[in-house]
Amino acid sequence: MIAGLRATRGPLLNPLAAGGVDYWPDGVLVGDEHGRIVAVGAWDELAPRLGLDAAAVPRSAGLILPPLLDAHIHIPQHPIRGRFAEDIGADPPGGRLLASLEKNVFPAEGRCEGPAHARHVVADFLADTLSSGVIGGAAYMTVHARATRIALEQLPAPWSVGLVLMNGRCPEYLRTDEPGLAEDVAALARDFGRRLIVTDRFAVSVDTPLRKAGVALARRHGLRMQTHLDEQRAEKMLVEEVLYPDAGTYTGVYARDGLLDCEPILAHCIHMRPEEVDAIAATDASIAHCPVSNTLLGSGVMPLDTIRAAGISHALCTDVGASPTTSLFCEMAQFLKVHAGSSSTATPEEALRLVTVAPARMLGLADRLGTFAPGLEWSFIEVVCDSPVPATARKAILGGLLRMTEDDLGRWRQPDDPCASAVARLRDAGLDWGHDLAVLEADVRATATRLERRVRRVVRAGDVIWDSRGA
Ligand code: GUN
Ligand code: FE
Repeated sequence: MIAGLRATRGPLLNPLAAGGVDYWPDGVLVGDEHGRIVAVGAWDELAPRLGLDAAAVPRSAGLILPPLLDAHIHIPQHPIRGRFAEDIGADPPGGRLLASLEKNVFPAEGRCEGPAHARHVVADFLADTLSSGVIGGAAYMTVHARATRIALEQLPAPWSVGLVLMNGRCPEYLRTDEPGLAEDVAALARDFGRRLIVTDRFAVSVDTPLRKAGVALARRHGLRMQTHLDEQRAEKMLVEEVLYPDAGTYTGVYARDGLLDCEPILAHCIHMRPEEVDAIAATDASIAHCPVSNTLLGSGVMPLDTIRAAGISHALCTDVGASPTTSLFCEMAQFLKVHAGSSSTATPEEALRLVTVAPARMLGLADRLGTFAPGLEWSFIEVVCDSPVPATARKAILGGLLRMTEDDLGRWRQPDDPCASAVARLRDAGLDWGHDLAVLEADVRATATRLERRVRRVVRAGDVIWDSRGA
C-alpha cells in the first residue's frame, strides 16, 4: 500500500453531484494523510491500481455513504422532539402549528436564556445528530445572542446557526432585543462569519421593520437568511388576510421586505400559489422539505413536482422538534411514502441525494462534503445493513438504509390503504384530524424506532468523530 494512503472497504453508495447514485457492492474509499479523498470505486479495480493490500484495509461495519446534512432543525427544541404538539387537540383554532408553538415550543426555547442550560442542550444535540450520521447543516437557536454564540462555539464548522428574530405573537420573555440587534449580529458575524444565519422566524412573529433591519444586517455582513413559509393553511390565512393584507401573498411579504434576495432557506413551502413558486424560482432561495414534520403537524404535502419543475433547489430536513428523531433516514422514508402516490421522481436514489449532495450545495459545503470525489474530505458514515449485501443502489437504499421492501412502498400507492388514503386527504386539506393523524403518527413513530441507532461510525476528514461502540 502506498505510504500515507488509508482506505475503508465495503458496500458503498455515492450520490453524484451531476445526478444519479453510484453503487459498488464491494467498494473502497481511499484517502490521503491530509484527510482528502484520493479515489472511490470498485475494490477489484482500485486495489491493484493503488497497491491496496486486502489484509491492511479494514472492512466497514456496513454501508458506506457520505455524511448527512440537515438544513433545517431547531436546537432548542431538541429536548422536546416528538412532543412538539403534545396535548394539542386535533384541529385547534389557528391550527396545530400556532397552538404548539405557544404551548410547548416557546417555553422550551425560553429556557435557553440560561447559559448552562443552553450548553447542555447544544451538547445533547451534537451527540444525537452525530449518532444519526449528521455532521452539519443549518440550525435555528433562539432570540438570545448568548445562546446563539454558545451553539456556534460548540458545534463544528459544517453547522450554521440562526439568531432568531421575533417581536410579535410570542411571549415577552422571547422577544428579540431590538436596540441591541445590530451590535449582536456584528459581534457574531465578526467571530463566525457566514456560519451565522439571520433568522426571521416567520411572518407571523416578525413585523416589517424588524425584518428589514434583519435584511440590512445580512447585507452589511454578507450573511444569508432563513425562515418558514406557507406551512399551514391557517397560518397562511393569518399572514395574507390579517397581518399583511397588502402584500399579495405570504411569499410577497418576504419578497417586498428584501428577504428573498438574501439566499434564504425557506422551510416547508406547502401551500404555494403559482406566483409564489415563480417568485422563489427567480431568486437564489432554496427549500427545506420536511415530510415528517408536515405529516405530524397535519400541515400538508409539499408539491414536489411543481418545485422540481420550477428548478428550485431543495433538501430533506428533519425540523426537529416537530420530528421525533434526528434520523434523516426516517425523513427519507417519509419522503418516499408521502409522494408515492403522486410523484414518479420520489425514488430511493433521489431521497439519498436530498440528504447529501443537495444540502451540501445549499449550504455552500459542496467543495468539501455531500459526495465522494477526489479532493473532497475523506468523510463518510457506516450504516449497519441487514445481510446479505444488496445488489443494486435501489436495494441498498430502500432495504439497507430504510429497511423497507418494495411491497411496503407499494402499499403507499394503494388508494384503499389507510396510510395512503390519509396522505391523500392530507394533501387535499380533507384530513380526518382525529383518525388520519393517529394512523400516520403511529407509522412515523414505528419508522423512527426502526431506523434510529444504525450508524456505526462517523469519520470526518480522516478522524473518527463518532463510534457507536464508544457512545
Ligand atoms: N414556524 C415558526 N416557527 C416554527 C417552528 O419552530 N417549527 C415549525 N415547524 N414551524 C414554525
Ligand atoms: Fe422549522
